[in-house]
Amino acid sequence: MAIIQFPQGFVWGTATASYQIEGAYDEDGRGLSIWDTFSRTPGKVRNGDNGDVACDSYHRYEEDIALIKQLGVSAYRFSIAWPRIIPDGDGAVNPKGLAYYHTFIDKLLEAGVEPYVTIYHWDLPQALQDKGGWLNRATIDAFVRYSEVLFKAYGGKVKKWFTINEPWCASFLSYTIGEHAPGYRDLQMGVDAGHHLMVAHGKTVLRFRELGIPGEIGFAPNVSWKVPYSNRPEDVAAARREMGWTNDWFLDPVFKGEYPQYLIDVFAKHGAKLHVEPGDMELIREPVDFYAINYYSGNVVRHKEGFGLFDSETVDYGRDHTEMGWVIMPEGLSSVLLDLKQKYGDIPVYISENGACYNDEPGPDGRVRDDRRIDYLRSHIVEINRAIASGVNLKGYFVWSLLDNFEWAFGYEKRFGIVHVNYRTLKRTPKDSYYWYQKVAKNNWFEV
Ligand code: FCB
Repeated sequence: MAIIQFPQGFVWGTATASYQIEGAYDEDGRGLSIWDTFSRTPGKVRNGDNGDVACDSYHRYEEDIALIKQLGVSAYRFSIAWPRIIPDGDGAVNPKGLAYYHTFIDKLLEAGVEPYVTIYHWDLPQALQDKGGWLNRATIDAFVRYSEVLFKAYGGKVKKWFTINEPWCASFLSYTIGEHAPGYRDLQMGVDAGHHLMVAHGKTVLRFRELGIPGEIGFAPNVSWKVPYSNRPEDVAAARREMGWTNDWFLDPVFKGEYPQYLIDVFAKHGAKLHVEPGDMELIREPVDFYAINYYSGNVVRHKEGFGLFDSETVDYGRDHTEMGWVIMPEGLSSVLLDLKQKYGDIPVYISENGACYNDEPGPDGRVRDDRRIDYLRSHIVEINRAIASGVNLKGYFVWSLLDNFEWAFGYEKRFGIVHVNYRTLKRTPKDSYYWYQKVAKNNWFEV
């Protein structure tokens, strides 16, 4: 038995995103987003699911806030739906959309929970996609304007802002791999979209400073941990290339002001070129107050000539997976935190997402026994404790997710919530993991 104790003031939280939980897709003037379009395109989302209703959190937010309060966490990370605020992306502001989040934020504050707001968690207004989406540099300015509307409306009561959630997913997964909206399959598009997302991030941080908004701002890239299969130089290099795609490609520009040359070279080999305009890199490296990482999984990787983008392959040698099929590698979390500290310095950092998919349903007694999720969370939270002990300036941790919700291309088939949602009745049932996490948040320590 050992006691795992956290520093005083450590922030415990939980997270969601607008399209995944809100529903009410056509209410109060909301415009359509790329996910409304994508989920209506046959074959894109499992079982033809979409976010029209989702968890209906748009209407049931008071119940959700009560669940957050009862959980005993001090912070809730949620995203604002751009198409509710500016339905066509760059035109008129929708007062009903603004009012909705005012009420939501006020109720959250009344419950003693601090809002951590993600400005962009992938629901780009469809009207902007019609003009090219993130391939069009005009989207950068539309994003900065949308952010400015939020800063002016909620600045002061919201003190923590994330510009972009997972730029890798919003670019490469969406424009190159084609698994997320808008579903293109082109490397050049991924490179262009990614760069524009990063310029949008930097320009927004700059705007935040210029407006003198009180509070802190950062971004939330998804990172991975890739372990070389052997210490042969070609395996080490293959793991570095794969890991660099999510980590270095999006973090180097922010903290070093440049993209990693070894990845520019890989993209060039596959016919894609990085297009940087004068001033872009200065914008991207605009200093942030913190950064945040979403971490779920790690892999063992080795060299395989001519295979994929990186001449590499993942070696699955029998480690446990979650029901997402993702390898469980808790030590990857402390490793990546230490690696990032070493690369970029002592910048405050949050874990903005960590969690696991297990599709446990309520038993005959109504209780949801999701022990595997508890194991997953426990093993990862121990690792963040180890990272803190090694000097990582870690400020907080957010479990993904408060609720089972619309898991993008997997629809409602994959459950990440610490609260079960019955998608027919929309009834919420806290799972065993909810009660476990409640104790952690309350005590600030736990036993292993
Ligand atoms: C992340 C997303 C989040 C959720 C989890 C499981 O990539 O940011 O919305 O879908 O994965």
